[in-house]
Amino acid sequence: MRSGDVYDAIPKVELHCHVEGTVRPATVVELAQKNGRQLPSEDPTELYRYTSLNSFLEIFWLVQELLVDRDDWARVAYQSVVDAVPHGLRYREMFFTPARHLAAGQDLAEIVAGLSDGIEQAVLETGARCALICDIDRAYGGGAGLELVERLAALRRSGRGERVIGLGMDSTERGVDPRDFADAFRLGESVGLRLTSHAGEDTGPDNIATALDALRIERIDHGLAILEDEALTRRVAEERIPLNVCPNSNIIIANKYERLEEHPFRRMRQAGVLATLNTDDPAMTDLDLGKEYRTVARALGMPWSEIEEVALDGVEATWLSEGEKRSLRAQFERELAEIRPSDPSEVV
Ligand code: ADE
Ligand code: ZN
Repeated sequence: MRSGDVYDAIPKVELHCHVEGTVRPATVVELAQKNGRQLPSEDPTELYRYTSLNSFLEIFWLVQELLVDRDDWARVAYQSVVDAVPHGLRYREMFFTPARHLAAGQDLAEIVAGLSDGIEQAVLETGARCALICDIDRAYGGGAGLELVERLAALRRSGRGERVIGLGMDSTERGVDPRDFADAFRLGESVGLRLTSHAGEDTGPDNIATALDALRIERIDHGLAILEDEALTRRVAEERIPLNVCPNSNIIIANKYERLEEHPFRRMRQAGVLATLNTDDPAMTDLDLGKEYRTVARALGMPWSEIEEVALDGVEATWLSEGEKRSLRAQFERELAEIRPSDPSEVV
């Protein structure tokens, strides 16, 4: 039997989700105890109210600091995947952002090994798959970004980094020039990493264009501001550059709109943009993938047929091989046919 409602049953890809933003509140408390850290509140969810991206990041960094050894990383990666599967997750490309851990002396190889341990266990138990994207933390600057990618390149050369398929960038956006990270992205590209970056979440469309041109990213995370620039919207649509959008996050974390009804997700798709749906930091925003799809569909009046297209576009936007995409798409089409309501032209 399926759990949850029909939105949970939609087979889903997720391409914008931070492992540190998926840590269960109970695990936050246990990790704090285990690692001797004092939290500002006994109930971490009391801290989960944000007035801006930067106010969110203060709390996100607190949670990040609780991850201190290989077992911690394994535990959160495992829980992250098994928690998402009842809400439809079939395949995820998941961010981790190790800047502050490396600055505190952790070893990138141990972090990746821990994440890989946890993911492997979750894959065995659930059949869902998960690759990793290593994110640069913009707050640490271009030098630290380049150093991180140098470590990542060495890890790949030693044959221990194969679960990391991509390089991304997140954290604070205002007042940071994406060009500062061009060397890091060139190195990432030269060692075969796929490229993405958060852009246009907390700033205007110029940052999206700069990330595309100066960093040569293949996907855009958030890209919320894109419709403010018609030519850029046309370019992104024509080149099928995926935008990995997180509507609930944009309300709760970045505080960009009062209500989901105002979110441009559907308008992005109507403009021809390959825009996917994602949760960003679900455990810190009381969210899951089923809820993301359900709330967006209802708030924006998206009929079931459009929601099916969103799920299928997720497959196109992955970094799987063409053959893997074909077989995942065929699996999604079979699953969608089984749950399709009698009138797919209606909002469910
Ligand atoms: N790290 C985790 N969530 C983030 C977001 N929404 N924007 C930037 N950095 C993040
Ligand atoms: Zn994000």
